[in-house]
Amino acid sequence: MEIVTSPLECRKKILSLTLEGKNIGFVPTMGALHQGHLELVRQARSFCDFVVVSIFVNRTQFNSKEDFEKYPKTFDNDVAKLRLSGCDIVFAPTDSDMYPGTPEVKITFPRFQKSMEGHYRPGHFEGVALIVSKLLHAVPAQKAFFGRKDWQQVLIIKQLVKDLHFDTEIISVPTVREPDGLAMSSRNQRLSETERSLAVIFSKSLYMAKEKLLGGDSIEETVSSVRQAFDRMPEVRLEYFEIGNRETLEPVQTVESNTPVSLFIAGYVGDVRLIDNIFLQEE
Ligand code: PAJ
Repeated sequence: MEIVTSPLECRKKILSLTLEGKNIGFVPTMGALHQGHLELVRQARSFCDFVVVSIFVNRTQFNSKEDFEKYPKTFDNDVAKLRLSGCDIVFAPTDSDMYPGTPEVKITFPRFQKSMEGHYRPGHFEGVALIVSKLLHAVPAQKAFFGRKDWQQVLIIKQLVKDLHFDTEIISVPTVREPDGLAMSSRNQRLSETERSLAVIFSKSLYMAKEKLLGGDSIEETVSSVRQAFDRMPEVRLEYFEIGNRETLEPVQTVESNTPVSLFIAGYVGDVRLIDNIFLQEE
């Protein structure tokens, strides 16, 4: 396994491997790797001949300086995990490699970013779109793998690739969970033991809401029981719980079997922000 830091060197390597007929799979990450990330690597390995994983904590997608500074950085550990996971190249650029100057370009998604993460984290998806564009230039892969835990991000990246004609297919991978249901996340590392035990309320609420909706409860009844569950736990703060069309993210008024629906949740345990979502009809 090789570690490459220069975007240009990385691009040259990938293009020459492609000329040799290799099928390249790419997994972009911000490091602090867990089983969720490693599942993306495993999927890339199963679809592709050659796997590139990037590790870059992208400051432009953090809307709080503190969140950026507190983001866990475990590079040596990450590299050790990737060595065992069938990764061929780790692309680990420095901040100045990716941002040699202040960028002027701004990519926005008026339709997708008006709600949820886009609404509560202003500028977040602009930062994601900018870095993913840069990463796809450095790693012009045939396939790139993204987790469904960040479903709104998946939709945005698919739109980015379509609108800017990136020749990379976006593959979304189901969320990997802890045994109690909590979605794996690099931010979980920041939870104290007590906070960790409370954090399960996010996934529990999603599954409870799913059961209610499938059992015939209305959207209003379901939303209000999720709110009540959070009201009973003052240590945990609900930021949003939404029931929306999985493809357009528009809120739905009723749950019909022919509309693909997802349930989305976000909030805080202490000062750690967690998000999760599930599909209503499957998973
Ligand atoms: P990061 O949070 O490190 O996540 C990297 C990838 O791992 C994303 O596609 C994310 O959805 C996926 N992932 C995280 N937790 C997961 C889980 N429990 N199960 C399955 N997949 C999971 O997302 C980012 O980084 C950044 O925004 C990035 C795309 C790298 C751009 O900076």
